[in-house]
Amino acid sequence: MRRKGVVVTIDGPSGAGKGTVAKAIAEKLNLNYIDTGAMYRTVALLAQRRGINIDDEKELKALLLEAHISFKRDDKGKLRVFLGEEDVTEEIRKPEISRLSSKIATKKVVRDILKVMQRRMGRGGNIVVEGRDMGTYVFPEADFKFYLDAQLEERAKRRWLQLKEMGMDIDMEEVKREIEERDRQDMERSEAPLHPAKDAVIIDTTGLSVEEVVEKILNAMEALKKKNG
Ligand code: DC
Repeated sequence: MRRKGVVVTIDGPSGAGKGTVAKAIAEKLNLNYIDTGAMYRTVALLAQRRGINIDDEKELKALLLEAHISFKRDDKGKLRVFLGEEDVTEEIRKPEISRLSSKIATKKVVRDILKVMQRRMGRGGNIVVEGRDMGTYVFPEADFKFYLDAQLEERAKRRWLQLKEMGMDIDMEEVKREIEERDRQDMERSEAPLHPAKDAVIIDTTGLSVEEVVEKILNAMEALKKKNG
């Protein structure tokens, strides 16, 4: 059975600008926005708090079945991430959670369960979903697929600025090393590794502003709509 609403997927490595761009597209087209990286991060946070052995599949599975992850908007319209009743939006951005989330994302049991949750969230369509495997594995039937990339230097700078804005003062070289390590882990894992879908539009965002990337995406969507009737 065909879904009702449109599905737009935005994948790519850390710091390629996916989050900001996906939010802007969702706002412009009046679609819901789902940040799947936040889901991996929330599982990592819970694993860290519980001190579980992430190499033990049973422990991981129990943790995932207990994790209640949800997204809610605050009164300013900003999307917040919840673990049960607790707002974990800021905590999941900490560098140690970035590292752990990338490790946890290599585990099949984690990917299988989060994929079910993500598909359930996207069931009705009318969504922009952002992550690493949205167009390839989770929503392979999506209407519009994008893959954003950028040079490492620029991605590190963007991430460093984001962390700075959140009050975290971290050395730029350290941010760069971490991004390289996460890229390697996300691309080389055997389960749903990061790569562009065959039918994705690839955009190099190096040197482009958010507005420019958003415009490229909207233009590509218009062109695809015309082409596909
Ligand atoms: O996009 P992000 O930096 O918030 O994602 C955190 C980690 O989660 C990232 O290193 C890889 C993993 N991830 C994934 O494997 N699949 C997704 N769809 C989203 C994120």
